[in-house]
Amino acid sequence: MVEEIYQSTKEEREKWIEEKDYNLFNLESEKVFIDLLTDSGTGAMSDKQWAEIMTGDESYAGSRSFHQLKNTVNKITGFDYLLPTHQGRAAENVLFSALVKEGDVVPGNSHFDTTKGHIEFRKAHAIDCTIDEAFDSEIIHPFKGNIDLNKLEKVYKEYGKEKIPFTLITITCNSSGGQPVSIENIRNVRELSNQYQIPVFFDGARFAENAYFIKEREEEFKNDTIKEIVLEMFSNGDGMTMSSKKDGLVNIGGFIALNDKELYQKCGNFGIIYEGFLSYGGLAGRDLAALSQGLDEATEYSYLKSRISQVEYLGNKLIEYGIPIQQPIGGHAIFIDAVKFLPNISREEFPAQTLGIELYKEGGIRGVEIGTILADRDPETRENRYPKLELLRLAIPRRTYLQSHMDYIAACLKNLFDRRHEISSGYEITWEADILRHFTVKLKKK
Ligand code: F0G
Repeated sequence: MVEEIYQSTKEEREKWIEEKDYNLFNLESEKVFIDLLTDSGTGAMSDKQWAEIMTGDESYAGSRSFHQLKNTVNKITGFDYLLPTHQGRAAENVLFSALVKEGDVVPGNSHFDTTKGHIEFRKAHAIDCTIDEAFDSEIIHPFKGNIDLNKLEKVYKEYGKEKIPFTLITITCNSSGGQPVSIENIRNVRELSNQYQIPVFFDGARFAENAYFIKEREEEFKNDTIKEIVLEMFSNGDGMTMSSKKDGLVNIGGFIALNDKELYQKCGNFGIIYEGFLSYGGLAGRDLAALSQGLDEATEYSYLKSRISQVEYLGNKLIEYGIPIQQPIGGHAIFIDAVKFLPNISREEFPAQTLGIELYKEGGIRGVEIGTILADRDPETRENRYPKLELLRLAIPRRTYLQSHMDYIAACLKNLFDRRHEISSGYEITWEADILRHFTVKLKKK
């Protein structure tokens, strides 16, 4: 598909963003020239996926498309049981309804915000056990999504299996910059968790990109296919939640895949009330069929190489300009260190959000704040939580933009970087929701 985009003027953009309370989520998409808000559901489907859309089976129960997807998920992940859901957070809702109760703790590498939201909504706690290197944007480490085993064991010792329903490994780790987790680390987490009898689940939203980095960076796997690596990764877990809008290469969808029949049945009950019958989970038959094809394409090396190289191309240009970004460059996005980019803006004035607004005004480019606004307030003290990193994420949609778009983005950022010392004030919140405030927050200039 080819879509027309409109190049607005700086004056127009200044007016539009003020009208929208300086929240980039509030902008109509026509007012955005290059949309890097997310890589979720924003990619282009292939000819073969569109063919599947035409032949999907829309039976309410037991459709052919469901069985096709179930076979693909089994072939790719190794998990036996499949529950489709309408997107990733719905998979979290269904799985956590079955597993997480008040007072529990769920350790892992940095949980994504909806994941943390679903845990905290149940009055449980998400505990971040990511390695320390992840939080220094300049340290080069091949697997910055890795879990620190000492931190994890400390949590296991403190809470034990009664309070820990599972450990969650998010691949790739979105919150620490789209950074991968190595198989070595996954195996070690599995071993430690076995000792403490704690199940291991994956948040697999970008599992194929994770496998690509393993092939490129982990010696043992350099000659393996992506599909072989994916099977090896998931063989260390009891199940997974999936946002198919990322590495499923579809515009909507999610699923839970599991090994345990009893847990599948328990989740199935929640699936039916929240999502729909077991064989469609809030999706049309054609969505399931397109996803089956998408999963197959996303786990091909040639696709992953072109996708991740495009992200790298943009990142390398920014590095060349001296712009501080999270390194090594992640799989789905460039993460700009906003505290370093805007030295005159204090943490209280939201530097990453400020940078996002400036970039929109500069070039009509929409990124997203991964910083203090996203981090929400502490559920008990209601104080702002200041995460270790204050990032502006530029997520690159799959199979959508060209190299010339990347050049344009880099040029706009360079212009901003050259005049960064002139940007001397940030924003304050005038209204916010109790949870997941970043979607609807209202701001005004300081
Ligand atoms: N897990 C991870 C790692 C994610 O990045 C997301 C979504 C989800 C779960 C939830 O999936 O959106 O299908 O409900 N991330 C998007 C993003 C929204 O922009 O990073 P969903």
